[in-house]
Amino acid sequence: MFFKKKRQTELDLLHLPKHIGIIMDGNGRWAKKRGLPRSAGHSAGADALKKIITEANKIGVKYITVYTFSTENWKRPKEEVDYLMSLLLDYLRNAEKTLAGENVVIRAIGSRKELSREIQDQIVKTEEFTKNNTGIVMNIALNYGGREEITNAVKEICAEVAEGKTNAGDITDKTIDAHLYTKEQPDVDLLIRTSGEMRLSNFMLWQVSYAEMWFTDKLWPDFKPADLRRAIIDFQNRGRRFGGI
Ligand code: FPP
Repeated sequence: MFFKKKRQTELDLLHLPKHIGIIMDGNGRWAKKRGLPRSAGHSAGADALKKIITEANKIGVKYITVYTFSTENWKRPKEEVDYLMSLLLDYLRNAEKTLAGENVVIRAIGSRKELSREIQDQIVKTEEFTKNNTGIVMNIALNYGGREEITNAVKEICAEVAEGKTNAGDITDKTIDAHLYTKEQPDVDLLIRTSGEMRLSNFMLWQVSYAEMWFTDKLWPDFKPADLRRAIIDFQNRGRRFGGI
């Protein structure tokens, strides 16, 4: 006889996802619905993000990775790319004043060399300024692509093998882990995507292997701290088996 476990309705602070990944989608549609330019959607999206980081940190989540700009987003009109980059620069600059006050560690993951000198320098400054904080680690995925990340890891490992530093037969999944942008961080346990789309879009392909996926029709600028809590409660109600029974 099986008894159905009662659904938990409150947040269980002892069983939080260690790492949450978020694909923040729907800024453009949010703006369009209001007759506003797409830039207004991105700006509202950046505001929503600040509130979500504050909430995740308050709850006690240790790592959060947010998809801000993919390696494919350069295909957007120059005006939109420029706006997103200026928002990012502002975000990184202001983060020193606002989020760092909340003890957040800020890191950028992705390929930096295609970014402007100004953004690259600001990333270094913001990372340096926040590195000794002890709160949530926020990875800003910027010019990030999951396939590129894995490809780079393979290249680095091949170079180590060629130099005789690593034995090809000893390569394990831990070896790959150690060459990702997220080295020393736990895998993503909970992946959230807004706006009703149900795709990974090249986001953290390696790290989401066993992630629970949570989708909502809400557009990113409408995603509120209460939605984050709901996603975590749903996560806590799922039975994770990691391939076991
Ligand atoms: C997807 O919406 C969102 C993005 C491509 C960028 C995400 C950026 C933000 C949330 C704001 C900026 C963040 C920082 C850190 C400054 P979309 O434009 O694809 O929306 P659509 O699918 O409705 O067109």
